Amino acid sequence: MKLCPNFKTLETNYLFADIAHRVNAYQAAHPDAPVIRLGIGDVTLPLAPMVVEALREASAEQGVKETFHGYGDEQGYGFLQSAIVDYYASRGVALAQNEVFISDGAKSDLGNILDIFSKDNTVLIPDPVYPVYVDTNRMDGRPIVFADANEGNGFLPLPDPAVHADIIYICSPNNPTGAAYDRAGLQAWVDYALEHEAVILYDAAYECFITDPSLPRSIFELPGAKQCAIEFCSFSKMAGFTGTRCGYTVVPEALANGEARRMWLRRQTTKFNGVPYIVQRGAEAVFTEQGQREIHEALAYYQQNAAVLANTLTELGIWYTGGKNSPYLWLKCPNGMESWAFFDYLLENANLVGTPGAGFGRNGANFFRLTAFGDQAKTAEAAGRLRRLLG
Ligand code: MLT
Repeated sequence: MKLCPNFKTLETNYLFADIAHRVNAYQAAHPDAPVIRLGIGDVTLPLAPMVVEALREASAEQGVKETFHGYGDEQGYGFLQSAIVDYYASRGVALAQNEVFISDGAKSDLGNILDIFSKDNTVLIPDPVYPVYVDTNRMDGRPIVFADANEGNGFLPLPDPAVHADIIYICSPNNPTGAAYDRAGLQAWVDYALEHEAVILYDAAYECFITDPSLPRSIFELPGAKQCAIEFCSFSKMAGFTGTRCGYTVVPEALANGEARRMWLRRQTTKFNGVPYIVQRGAEAVFTEQGQREIHEALAYYQQNAAVLANTLTELGIWYTGGKNSPYLWLKCPNGMESWAFFDYLLENANLVGTPGAGFGRNGANFFRLTAFGDQAKTAEAAGRLRRLLG
């Protein structure tokens, strides 16, 4: 047999695995160091009480013959699809139930969706970027062109009409930079995609952090987007499902005359047996009135962390994006430091962990990401350490 040669084009380790190894090694060498981790965007608050109750009830149902569920419906249970359709309707976006596919998270779907696209498509990816978009395309051997996101464009690149692409990735609010497109910026990408007969793979995993009502939360709020976009979303950041696993993908019927939706259904029914019934019941509870109140309390907790970190950076005179409408803060490393050097400096001198911008691409070389998903007391402590170290 021959192993896939494309894997040779990848970094040896996945970025967050690499950071975890480095931090664990530091902690092993300094067992008493009070390390605070603001690196990977993992949540720290537990599931909402409404979700836990729904999980408990569904588990009990699974133990009774009359209410037991085996294999689920192929695109996910109707009760969850229709709750998602209502969620979009409340924001003025009309979806049909069969356009919504339930999955175990946005990351898997963002990688798996590539099965329905030919390998000779040219892919356009902003740099810096969530490494999954780049790595999954490298695994398939697709040609990639990068759109530079930098200080000059506020880390929100706009399409270059001279560059042709077939598959375009957009994440807004962005991971890692926290920057979010306004309607005009996102419309420019939709118009470009329509003109180039391209598809936008729109990662909306952080939409629930948008508080500015003028910013779009779904690409489908923009005219023409249903003809050229697929949207990925997740309960991970919205409702603390990083360890529970549930997400959804919207493939509009209007895309490629229904062909893309049918192919995704064919792919999923062949390679995926769905998300557990119990988990889908938990996700459904997120959309109840009480569930929404509870998850918004958790989101407010993280938003408070983001504000604490943002105020600290402002006080220190450090340039940054994000922190508003996003759980991420993307800061310029002080004194022109390289991001991995800054990572070591912060770890060794403040016992603080963040994510080096270089891990997200060339344009991240002098930037650094902090997350607002930490514990509130620890985040306040981290802000104090930053002030002492960098003030
Ligand atoms: C991140 O830290 O970028 C995210 O937690 C990774 C993910 O959502 O997979």
